[in-house]
Amino acid sequence: MSRKYIIAGNWKMNKTVSESVVLAGEIVSKAKEIKNTEVVIAPTYLAAAKVADVIKGSNVKLALQDIHWKDQGAFTGKVSVDMAKEIGAEYIIIGHSEQRQFFHETDETVNLKVKKTLSAGLKPIICVGETLEERNGGKLESVLSAQVEGAYKDVSKEDALKTVIAYEPVWAIGTGVVATDAQAQDTQKFVRSVVSRIYGAEVAESVQIQYGGSMKPDNAAGLLAQKDIDGGLIGGAALKSDQFFSIFSAAEKLG
Ligand code: 13P
Repeated sequence: MSRKYIIAGNWKMNKTVSESVVLAGEIVSKAKEIKNTEVVIAPTYLAAAKVADVIKGSNVKLALQDIHWKDQGAFTGKVSVDMAKEIGAEYIIIGHSEQRQFFHETDETVNLKVKKTLSAGLKPIICVGETLEERNGGKLESVLSAQVEGAYKDVSKEDALKTVIAYEPVWAIGTGVVATDAQAQDTQKFVRSVVSRIYGAEVAESVQIQYGGSMKPDNAAGLLAQKDIDGGLIGGAALKSDQFFSIFSAAEKLG
């Protein structure tokens, strides 16, 4: 089964609202000729509604960086899937390693958020990844299996088909140290095998698995050419429209 590339920019806690509007506008104009690659941007909550207006009618899609699993209520600082949906978000990034490291995200809360996102008809981008210590300690496979199995607990096969996975080795995020093409490929092949163990080969072959962690214009083509790499979740290089353009153009050429 041929999988479409999905290139998503995770802007994290960067860009004011006015800066976000400018960046989104630049990306919309650079993505005009893109036909076969999904281009997604995830601004801050504060900027998301304005960015949604800028990208309306274009082939750039909106993601939020997180979501709460409750519908509404006394959850200071959080936003709900209905709020995301109303402004036109199509994707929600869930379980980013920064959420796991700094904000008490667990496999259980990831699972609650994944189910909530799917129930609203939106698509989760489920982030998994190991620390350097875990990789060096021989725990790579057990850590990734637990994260993937945890995220998909009680998720139906039909819903699993609507998910995207982002493999982001923690040691490669924001460090400039990128996984080699072979390291990323081998690990993503393993992640796909875990999906296959849960849902069977057909689902595993259709789920898009992105690579994330210091993906840049100069290493994107090599990574994206790997069999089990179906896109990128990009931090730093997504904040400059020319760099982000280089990456989604590389995917478009390969696609
Ligand atoms: P960098 O591309 O800055 O390493 O960030 C990757 C990432 O965490 C995307 O979610």
